[in-house]
Amino acid sequence: MFKNLAIGAAFALALAPAASFAAGGGEQHIEDFAFSFEGPFGKYDQNQLQRGLQVYTEVCASCHGLQYVPLRTLGDEGGPGLPEDQVRAYATGFAVLDEESNRHLYDAENDIFRPLIASDHFPANHTAGAPDLSLMAKSRAGFHGPYGLGINQLFKGIGGAEYIASLLIGYTGEEKEEAGSVLYENTAFPGGWISMAPPLYGEDVEFADGHSNDLHHEAEDVAAFLMWAAEPKMMARKQAGFVGVLFLTILASLLYLTNKRLWAPHKGKKH
Ligand code: HEC
Repeated sequence: MFKNLAIGAAFALALAPAASFAAGGGEQHIEDFAFSFEGPFGKYDQNQLQRGLQVYTEVCASCHGLQYVPLRTLGDEGGPGLPEDQVRAYATGFAVLDEESNRHLYDAENDIFRPLIASDHFPANHTAGAPDLSLMAKSRAGFHGPYGLGINQLFKGIGGAEYIASLLIGYTGEEKEEAGSVLYENTAFPGGWISMAPPLYGEDVEFADGHSNDLHHEAEDVAAFLMWAAEPKMMARKQAGFVGVLFLTILASLLYLTNKRLWAPHKGKKH
């Protein structure tokens, strides 16, 4: 009986539909995207990460930094997997202010810049007051309900990528002005009004692999990329977890059998 109940509860948790709950006064709606990295054996989709990198670079990077992410990890297997020369070429697309380096460029105001190299991190960006996105996908996790037994998280992921994708497609088109700044209505943002203007409308970038660039796909791809940025070792962690569970299962059955065998001569004996 208890066992049935427990299994039922686990399934109910795992299969619960997209979360929609009230937070900070507004009704928050998080769409349930089917990301490739969900589930105990989920993996990042390399092409998707590359497309997401492109959306980040061409759209989001003008306001948001990724200062904790090392550029060289773009070449990691299990990540975007860019070839080394492409990582190097990508790095030189950014320039940082640097008085000491001898790899300079000068801009119009004669500040000294140097192009980044693969061993640098993505630059920070404080120009628009936008938060750094390095860990955003982890800090906005938890949209699949409370951690509890972790069943939901095991089957559906931690939800940070869902939140980001939902945020990007969650604009209603309504705007209001408050204390001199414009706020945009957004169904995913806690409280319902965000100061980030809609960054994506669809067809904002052209994907080299010919993949659809409608709003939904762009949002999904950049959210997947940001999940990878925040959790680059997710696959290794899942694998280690799985081996751990397997090991514990075998150990538990051996212990059970040993226990039975040890006590067998004493059980059912009449004194
Ligand atoms: C024109 C500047 C600008 C661009 C471009 C931009 N953002 Fe933002 N973003 C902001 C600002 C400003 C905030 C802070 C909004 C707030 O807290 O009201 C923000 C907040 C966010 C947040 C945090 C929301 C939260 O829960 O606190 C996420 C996630 C985000 N942006 C993702 C993106 C992504 C992904 C892109 C690219 C597709 C992007 N942004 C493009 C300015 C920008």
